[in-house]
Amino acid sequence: MNRREFLRDTAALGLFGAAEAVEAQPRGLALLDGSRPKPVVIASHNGNYFKDGGKVTCVELAFAKLTRGVDVLDALLAGVNLVELDPTECYVGYGGLPNADGIVQLDASCMHGPKRRAGGVAALEGVRTPSLVAKAVMDLTDHHLLVGPGAQAFARNTGFKIEADLNTDISRKAWLEWKRKTDPNHYLDPNQRSARERKLFQHLAARGLLPCAKRCGTINCDGINAKGELAGVTSTSGLPFKIPGRVGDSPILGAGLYVEDAVGAVGSTGRGEANLFNLSSFLIVEHLRRGMHPKDAGLAALRRIRANTREHRLRKPNGEPNFNVTFYILNGRGEHAGVAMYGEDEDQRGYAGQTDTRFVLYSVCDENGPRNVRCDGLLPGTPQP
Ligand code: GLY
Repeated sequence: MNRREFLRDTAALGLFGAAEAVEAQPRGLALLDGSRPKPVVIASHNGNYFKDGGKVTCVELAFAKLTRGVDVLDALLAGVNLVELDPTECYVGYGGLPNADGIVQLDASCMHGPKRRAGGVAALEGVRTPSLVAKAVMDLTDHHLLVGPGAQAFARNTGFKIEADLNTDISRKAWLEWKRKTDPNHYLDPNQRSARERKLFQHLAARGLLPCAKRCGTINCDGINAKGELAGVTSTSGLPFKIPGRVGDSPILGAGLYVEDAVGAVGSTGRGEANLFNLSSFLIVEHLRRGMHPKDAGLAALRRIRANTREHRLRKPNGEPNFNVTFYILNGRGEHAGVAMYGEDEDQRGYAGQTDTRFVLYSVCDENGPRNVRCDGLLPGTPQP
């Protein structure tokens, strides 16, 4: 009798619970040969830059914690909290760029591989660390996603400090300039809006009101410990100056984050709408399950996004997408990759300490210490027309 037959028969006899029988189905690619992965933490580029006034970055802190036996998700959250709390990171948490009404609305999610549990919050106002509220949704409720005022009431009731305003001087000044320069009607022609916003962000960067011309940013952080346990966290202030109530991919399981223990942990930054449409993170985990290398799995998802980008306003004159989206991919063996629609992006200049490069990077911390690594691009050139 082979292992599958044994599990089938024992499940049929009721010797194991149904959940165990399902879990035992062959899947994934980790630990089947009995070997143990080396612990590693990966993140978006900001994960190896912002320190919230301290000495270590997100990936360093998360790696130190998970190698000292802290729960894999708690270790990643501690790292992501540094980025959420850092007032100089204007795309995540406290000081994230606000929505069109000048209000900071935050999205976040987290997934715990071994526990098969997850939580998320969307359009949350007043809490600097939305990833911890996502964790509370995971731990304390029967649900996976709370939004808006309901998410805030839940946060208040579970002990989070609610603040009236999460803007900083940086985010407020950038919003004021945006308001001054753009048509206050947020439903103007999307073609005009996209072109105008690109110019506006270049103007904000040139005037020193923003560190760079990036139009969206997020942190995703994924890790695996020595037991092969996987987890992931994604947190963002979303699209700057978005229509109030707009929810991106970050809090949506399968879009901006997906984790399946032993198979992979995947998250994303960039144009959230592309991931909402294509459920890219889930798609990549499914590719990992079939044995694809993280880089190939990520490139396959980028090809899907490219094929589904039909609207004229989202395409460059050469027909290719005019936006970037990046994936951070870790499999159950501890192999990882960062892939982007474009490996170079003019709007990256000046972001997270990048003074002289436009390359799209991701962060890694393992036994060799923290570092930034270039992402592989699917397409040549940059998203800029
Ligand atoms: N990827 C972040 C967002 O679109 O909100």
